[in-house]
Amino acid sequence: MTQPALLLNNGVSIPRLGLGTWQAKDGSEVEQTVTAALSVGYRLIDTAAAYGNEPGIGKAINKSPIPRNELFITTKVWNADQGYDQTIKAFDKSLKRLGLHYIDLYLIHWPMPAADKYINTWRAMEELYKTGKVRAIGVCNFSIEQLERLAAETSIVPMVNQIELHPYFVQTDLRNYCTQNNIAIEAYSPLGGSTGKLLEDPVIVNIADAHSITPAQVVIRWHIQQGHIVIPKSTHTERITSNAQVFDFELNPDEMTRIDALDKNERIGTDPNTANFNWNTNLVQIAHYLGLVHW
Ligand code: A2P
Repeated sequence: MTQPALLLNNGVSIPRLGLGTWQAKDGSEVEQTVTAALSVGYRLIDTAAAYGNEPGIGKAINKSPIPRNELFITTKVWNADQGYDQTIKAFDKSLKRLGLHYIDLYLIHWPMPAADKYINTWRAMEELYKTGKVRAIGVCNFSIEQLERLAAETSIVPMVNQIELHPYFVQTDLRNYCTQNNIAIEAYSPLGGSTGKLLEDPVIVNIADAHSITPAQVVIRWHIQQGHIVIPKSTHTERITSNAQVFDFELNPDEMTRIDALDKNERIGTDPNTANFNWNTNLVQIAHYLGLVHW
């Protein structure tokens, strides 16, 4: 698989397609999943301290024959670790758990506006970036208002905003703001999450049939043509493989318009403006492992 890339606002190249690992359990599950993904050409792996699977991902990366500089590893600072000093410490812990010397992209997992710590957290991210331990920094789930506050009070424009994005939830205003400000848009829950509803939508199924491809490939290709970085999650090797086979066909303008028209403004995940969950990192990792939480 050839991996098209996109240039971030600091000139760092990021693969357009990566593997999401939320809900992939630490240990053999995530290790096998990442190993399978690397073997079929994925180079971008997306995790978070909160997912509790950094050790397994690190094992897969470190035993892979692929040179480290060909991989693009993303992880995220968890809510309970927000604040300047805590963020610096949390970064070092993630680095250790992953068994790596640097991270390609470090993200603030949630803005947590009620805690009002994201400005100091971002200053720590800027510091980490300046030390060279991380090649790019960004945020997740940030609104226009929160991005504007970062622009007014800090000095580095985030390279990425990772947000919930799929044809049922297209967040047009936020995407336009990011594009105008040179912030790359990374789509999480790109397939509409685990309910499967989007992949059964008659419009998606009809376009899939027309191209003899899977509904997931239609949706992933829609993201690519929209200009997003896209990180579908699967723990099944055949899905991991087929989800990445989206660079040898194109959706025509009419198909793109039909998919665009599916927007229902329907968020499936947590609303970032009200989310203020602040469990400590160990607790949230256990909760993730048990499948109890969806952040
Ligand atoms: P699984 O891990 O069992 O393959 P999202 O990336 O939007 O969060 O969606 C992930 C969900 O979609 C997971 O439940 C994943 O399940 C499922 N999924 C991933 N790839 C495919 C596919 N090609 N066909 C059907 N379901 C898929």
